[in-house]
Amino acid sequence: MTQDDKKKAAASNALKYVEQGAIVGVGTGSTVNYFIDALAGLKNNIEGAVSSSEASSLLLKSHGIEVFELNSVSQLDVYIDGADEITEHKHMIKGGGAALTREKIVAAVAKTFVCIIDDTKQVPVLGKFPLPVEVIPMARSYVARELVKLGGDPVYRQGVVTDNGNVILDVRNLKILNPVELENQINSIVGVVTNGLFANRGADVVLIGKEDGVLEIK
Ligand code: 5RP
Repeated sequence: MTQDDKKKAAASNALKYVEQGAIVGVGTGSTVNYFIDALAGLKNNIEGAVSSSEASSLLLKSHGIEVFELNSVSQLDVYIDGADEITEHKHMIKGGGAALTREKIVAAVAKTFVCIIDDTKQVPVLGKFPLPVEVIPMARSYVARELVKLGGDPVYRQGVVTDNGNVILDVRNLKILNPVELENQINSIVGVVTNGLFANRGADVVLIGKEDGVLEIK
């Protein structure tokens, strides 16, 4: 079984969290793309989706799934998204696809966050995957210096502009022993829009595609 097969299995399994008539919160990335493809089979049973990126919106629309503005929706029952790393406490690093800010906003509105991953994403401690930080362009160098003070090694993600018109710093070599504290600390640097630690609001359910099937952790 390839990594893609495992992503696909976790993504299809997440359909059981989609209720009749729902507006579904949809994340971003290759695992979510498999979820969107699977969701297309249910498009006549759902009202539509709220999307966390232009890329996901395009794919949803290409399947004929209506995409709603988050501002027109007061509540979402479920948000389905992938992760770059996740711990047993369901704390995550996200933002490999540069969609972290909108992902965090849509996740904040949802009652249940279902994280869909293949088994390579499970880690004992976060931080091997560089932590993405979305930054207002004019603050890039200042924020980078502040991140160095926190012990990180920020690298400007060249050529990437987020859907919000900002830039990404990928921070290597952080010791992420307290993800909630670090999430708050980085978010308090002036010029940071948000960072890819999803610890204050982690996942509620994790669906892990493995060699022998999909493991669900609640
Ligand atoms: C995008 C994300 C993705 O969820 C994360 O990068 C995982 O992506 P993939 O499913 O392609 O492995 O946070 O910003």
